[in-house]
Amino acid sequence: MGIHDAVSRRAAVESVLLDSRTIQRRVCELGAQITRDYAGKFPHLVATLKGASIFLADLVRSIELDLSFDFITVTSYGDATESSGQLRIMKDLDETLELRHVLLVEDIVDTGLTLSYLLRTLGARRPTSLKTVALLNKPSRRKVHVPLDYVGFNIPDFFVVGYGLDYAQRYRNLPDICILRTAAGS
Ligand code: PRP
Repeated sequence: MGIHDAVSRRAAVESVLLDSRTIQRRVCELGAQITRDYAGKFPHLVATLKGASIFLADLVRSIELDLSFDFITVTSYGDATESSGQLRIMKDLDETLELRHVLLVEDIVDTGLTLSYLLRTLGARRPTSLKTVALLNKPSRRKVHVPLDYVGFNIPDFFVVGYGLDYAQRYRNLPDICILRTAAGS
């Protein structure tokens, strides 16, 4: 990596909110809890693209059970910077959910509109159970109530990037979760 790249990446972030060791420790705790709660079952994890992909990759490796996973992409209509509530599936699941123990995996729950839509839509596909896990939760931004069964961290209303989270598709590959300098306090 060139010195220019390193400097410009560092300059983009205000500060580290959660460093990679803290994230890994918490993901392992969530994995252990899920392992206990789903003992004797075969959980099917459904992660939202793209943000939750990195969290999913670490989470599944900390769950000591036989499991499967799938991906879904949900997008808001229009070009709003936050969910408008008008959501649609851009890329649907590959597999059926019927009679499965489904665990929805989100990187962040903000207004709650995405997860609420997914719970409604996927709940109609008749899974045996449907639970949720979110790495990050911003309770102060909530517009609709959503049941969260597992939460990694409750965080204040900062615009965060890294560990899967982006700003204009950038910074998803930062190992830490950072507060973005240019969009802090969005
Ligand atoms: C993010 C995140 C959640 C959603 C949360 O996805 O992954 O799915 O926003 O926001 P909400 O609670 O206000 O609905 P985004 O639409 O940014 O797509 P991405 O995962 O591809 O970055």
